[in-house]
Amino acid sequence: MDVPGIDPTRIPVHIAAVMDGNGRWAQRRGLKRTEGHAAGEEALMDAIDGALDLGSSWLTVYAFSTENWRRPVDEVRYLMGFNESLLVRRRDELNAKGVRIRFIGRRDWRVPKRLLRRIDESIELTKKNRTLTLTIAFNYGGRAELVDAVRQIVREGIAADRIDEKTIAKRLYAPDMPDPELLVRTSGEYRLSNYLMWEAAYSELVFTDVLWPDFRREHLFDAVREYQARDRRFGGLSDE
Ligand code: IPE
Ligand code: IPE
Ligand code: MG
Repeated sequence: MDVPGIDPTRIPVHIAAVMDGNGRWAQRRGLKRTEGHAAGEEALMDAIDGALDLGSSWLTVYAFSTENWRRPVDEVRYLMGFNESLLVRRRDELNAKGVRIRFIGRRDWRVPKRLLRRIDESIELTKKNRTLTLTIAFNYGGRAELVDAVRQIVREGIAADRIDEKTIAKRLYAPDMPDPELLVRTSGEYRLSNYLMWEAAYSELVFTDVLWPDFRREHLFDAVREYQARDRRFGGLSDE
């Protein structure tokens, strides 16, 4: 689908998003923080439709970080149940849209078994889809991902002087995933918070003050317009 003001030949193949600001959205309305997370579901579904409209092949969303365990137990418990029920509620609809659901993050003992089961079922259900790969970063940390890659390299007994960037890239959680050209963060926070530390080395960062529950595909399109106005040099010089 052509989107006004967006060059269809320069659509980012992979868009990453930090879905931030749910708590503040709720607090501003006198609601509980958890109601902000619930309201974020609509934003996620609209962002997915936006990525489909654009024709991007990869959308990666930050749903729970390795640092989010520091939150109050009630909120953590809510987020576990919420993500589990979201998968159950939405997976058929996503499957029908050709979305392949995948996960990156640590499957450690803190993640409830029931959620892990829903994750595995959703991956299995949608594994043949190729229109859009929706990667959910859950119990994900960029540093943990690098630690896990290093552990793997050591386990394989690879000699130090044979290690290069490819050795590491191949041992990340999703080695087939291209690096995101565009990374969007909502809620006016200007940081990565341990998201895609390796993969986002050369991503264009776009920050918006919109709180995640208010985010809609039009905001995603705005971010792509901003991305297309950027000069990506990768350490080199511009073309002209
Ligand atoms: C993002 O919203 C969702 C998660 C981190 C799970 P927040 O819960 O961080 O919302 P704010 O940043 O406190 O407003
Ligand atoms: C990053 O947001 C994690 C997710 C959106 C899941 P946070 O709200 O946890 O990040 P900080 O604490 O503001 O850095
Ligand atoms: Mg936050």
